[in-house]
Amino acid sequence: MCGIVGYVGKKNDALKVLIEGLEKLEYRGYDSAGIAFLDNNKIQIIKKQGKIKNLKQFLQNEKAKIGIGHTRWATHGFPNEINSHPHHCGKMTIVHNGIIENYNEIKKDLIDKGYVFQSETDTEVACALLDYIYNKTNDINITIQIFQNTVRGAYAIGLICDDDFENLYAIKKNSPLIIAKGEDENYIASDMPAILKFTNRFITLNNGDFAKINSHEIKVFNKNGTEIEKEVKKFEGDASSIDKNGYEHYMQKEIMEQPEVIKRTLNEYLTNNMDQLFKNMPNFSEYEKIHIVACGSAMHAGLIGKSLIEEYANIPVDVEIASEFRYKKLFLNEKSLVIAVSQSGETADTLAAVEIAKQHNADTLGIINVVGSSIARETDLVLYTKAGSEIAVATTKAYSAQTALLSLIALNIGQNNIDRGELKELLECIKKLPTQMEILLNNDKLYQEIAQTLYTQKDIFFIGRDIDYAIAMEGSLKLKEISYIHSEAYPAGELKHGTISLIEEGTPVIAVVTNKEIAEKTISNIKEVRSRGADVTLLTNTNCDVESDFYHHKIVIPTTHKLIQPLLTILPLQKISYEVAKLRGANIDQPKNLAKSVTVE
Ligand code: M6R
Repeated sequence: MCGIVGYVGKKNDALKVLIEGLEKLEYRGYDSAGIAFLDNNKIQIIKKQGKIKNLKQFLQNEKAKIGIGHTRWATHGFPNEINSHPHHCGKMTIVHNGIIENYNEIKKDLIDKGYVFQSETDTEVACALLDYIYNKTNDINITIQIFQNTVRGAYAIGLICDDDFENLYAIKKNSPLIIAKGEDENYIASDMPAILKFTNRFITLNNGDFAKINSHEIKVFNKNGTEIEKEVKKFEGDASSIDKNGYEHYMQKEIMEQPEVIKRTLNEYLTNNMDQLFKNMPNFSEYEKIHIVACGSAMHAGLIGKSLIEEYANIPVDVEIASEFRYKKLFLNEKSLVIAVSQSGETADTLAAVEIAKQHNADTLGIINVVGSSIARETDLVLYTKAGSEIAVATTKAYSAQTALLSLIALNIGQNNIDRGELKELLECIKKLPTQMEILLNNDKLYQEIAQTLYTQKDIFFIGRDIDYAIAMEGSLKLKEISYIHSEAYPAGELKHGTISLIEEGTPVIAVVTNKEIAEKTISNIKEVRSRGADVTLLTNTNCDVESDFYHHKIVIPTTHKLIQPLLTILPLQKISYEVAKLRGANIDQPKNLAKSVTVE
């Protein structure tokens, strides 16, 4: 959470770069924002509660050659001005993303040494600690090394020291931070889109690395202070991928991009040749047990993966919420594959789960969207989802790409269990998929009609069985995340064990039924809620479509091969959530209290 950007150079105006960068990073947090820049040989700090647009109003025509900026998702202390970044102490000014775990003990120590703190943040403590060490050493490189040996936790820090206005410093451990290279100017940022307008060349830092950056030079050091060579890479995405392209919201744009994203993701790994089905993907069939670790929507994609891998590949799969994984007794060994699924590749809980898996000698595989991100670097092998930059906090296209890749893993391991006839049929279905997705995505009238019946409701229930239950969970999360309507997803058969007591006249229930083999059972459950007055929206496919009067609205999606059916089923639920949130006037791309990448545990 939180976005960082920094600039040093002769070509651009630092304030312009910082503000434009922060606007691009606002998806990472939007509780408050601030900048620090050099003005008449003195650091000036401006920070405001709320979004970047509040901050912008307070800027006049200042111009600067060096500066750092921050957009905050509050962890320590309220999102007010005092707690906002940048923080300044003595000769140090910093912006920080992450959490300093031992900040309380450091704070006590610094108070004893005479430091006075204004804010409740761990960042102000980090700033004071840097100042304290610097006053002893008078050397910034040594200061950073001692600092890294003193603090525990996660940090991406941008730093300016009052004794050195030529250089910007960057420090990284377990929080994302890249350095971008321009001509006569250089940048730091949490994420490449922040500065993509200015350059597409970048350097990644490993945990413990720090850098000294001025307009013409970037020097990177490891945690021991030894200078290290770094490869300058080229970012593959383009600036248009981070624009709205005429859509009202990023979420809407990203939903509509899905046919292309799925085509791209499948084409990256799948051939059309039945004798050599896969490219760019090793064979995973040697494993005896698979564990999928992920959070939120990525975990929901994992549940679909579990069902498909178990069915097609005959390997037991556990899906673990990453934040719980570390507290469990783990039965991992060298025959276990731990798959970490993450859009950002920075989710702290998922990263921690990977580290634990490695300690247990399991092989680790990342299914990741952001190239070069922390989890991508940490896992033994990474398969990238080809979703492109996803900006809306509510994931849509990245979730679908994760689902697609997990289906491919099921096929990868299970291909010998599928006869050639079925394989041929699957490949035919894959060819038709993008067009089917497009048709489904363009059924706005029906989704708007359903949204009209939902947007004033207080509670909405989703039900389904097996994969349809996993999809119901994702539909429910999408809806509550952006519309703020309370909603729950239940396995259809479980409702009558308690929750059905909440169903009354007019309670909305969205039922997902796409698996013919278990459709009858779910339909019985739908009838149970219907006879208690529920207002049912049925989401089904042509395979399970039964004419009846137990629903108010029906969405019929095409039937396709089971391995790719989920890629169709989720689309109406994403669209309905979007329409409901729109009717409620919600901030769709940046829902309250959330941030796109959750880099705290
Ligand atoms: O970046 P990740 O895929 O690791 O993020 C995991 C979750 O935080 C994320 O999927 C979250 O649940 C989404 N905002 C839901 O739309």
